[in-house]
Amino acid sequence: MEIVLSGIRPTGNLHLGNYFGAVKNFVKMQHENNAFFFIADYHSLTTHPTPNDLHGNVKQVLAEYLACGLNPDVATIYVQSDLPEIAELYLLLNMNSYLGELERTTSFKDKVRTQPNNVNAGLLTYPVLMAADILIHRAKKVPVGKDQEQNLEMARKFAKRFNNLYNVQYFDEPTPFNFGEELIKIPGLDGSGKMGKSEGNGIYLIDDDKTIRSKVMKAKTDAGPTIPNQKMPEEIVNLFTIANIVSEKDTVNVFRNKYNDCTIRYGDFKKQLAEDIIKFTSPIRERVLEIHANEQYLKKVVKLGAEKARVSASKTIKEVREIIGFKSF
Ligand code: TRP
Repeated sequence: MEIVLSGIRPTGNLHLGNYFGAVKNFVKMQHENNAFFFIADYHSLTTHPTPNDLHGNVKQVLAEYLACGLNPDVATIYVQSDLPEIAELYLLLNMNSYLGELERTTSFKDKVRTQPNNVNAGLLTYPVLMAADILIHRAKKVPVGKDQEQNLEMARKFAKRFNNLYNVQYFDEPTPFNFGEELIKIPGLDGSGKMGKSEGNGIYLIDDDKTIRSKVMKAKTDAGPTIPNQKMPEEIVNLFTIANIVSEKDTVNVFRNKYNDCTIRYGDFKKQLAEDIIKFTSPIRERVLEIHANEQYLKKVVKLGAEKARVSASKTIKEVREIIGFKSF
């Protein structure tokens, strides 16, 4: 089975967009591959070097991903900082990565703009750490969104360069993992194209029923159709897109027909939509709360994950040290 790997930044809670984007595919992927998932807590320091509650953030994302179905008995699920081998490989790869290419990375240039007072070296070498994450297990496939493509390209470059410099065929070049079917994009509730944390238009898996009802009732709508079969404005298409995922087909059809003959009452549609979202998210929310409260279980999960991950990580570090020429006396 092929090794696929993905890092998860411990920032914020999962929303429906995350769920139907990456998370659901991760859950599926773990059964078809030798899957590695880790919480990228080292990486989070590049933007927040003095986090208020680093451990709490790690615990929360871990609980959420487990609640969504990542299975520690199937996949290798670990915390990045539990594997110092990654830090060592990062150090070694840093010797073969150059200021010019790192400065030219799009994400680095963005950060220079957005956090001009904290342009730290970790930020500059973010792609090197990401390459270390991948190469430490000699992973072949990495599921990445558009925003991470350049980082993956850098990882390929560093892998190839390592081979060239030390005249070995050691690292394979990791390639993007494509989720067979089209990724489902969940729109925001504000008429925008995409549900996202920064947009503040999202429904979170841990939102309680009341919050979900209130968010859905406040979703943007127009004045309503006046001409039969009139073209839907984007904000209404968005609500139907979400309904298509969480509601019964018949329910969606009823409201679609009502839209088409101009009898739809958006209030009724939203009420139904909110209940259907709740039906979908509330079991997940309950599992998040349950897992989050179970310290023993979480401890077991990360311990097992680190143990499993260390098998390939320590092997790689040992071999890389040999290749470079470190020898013990
Ligand atoms: N950079 C990724 C992100 O921002 C997270 C990440 C860290 C990652 N290391 C990785 C993803 C290794 C894939 C492989 O989402």
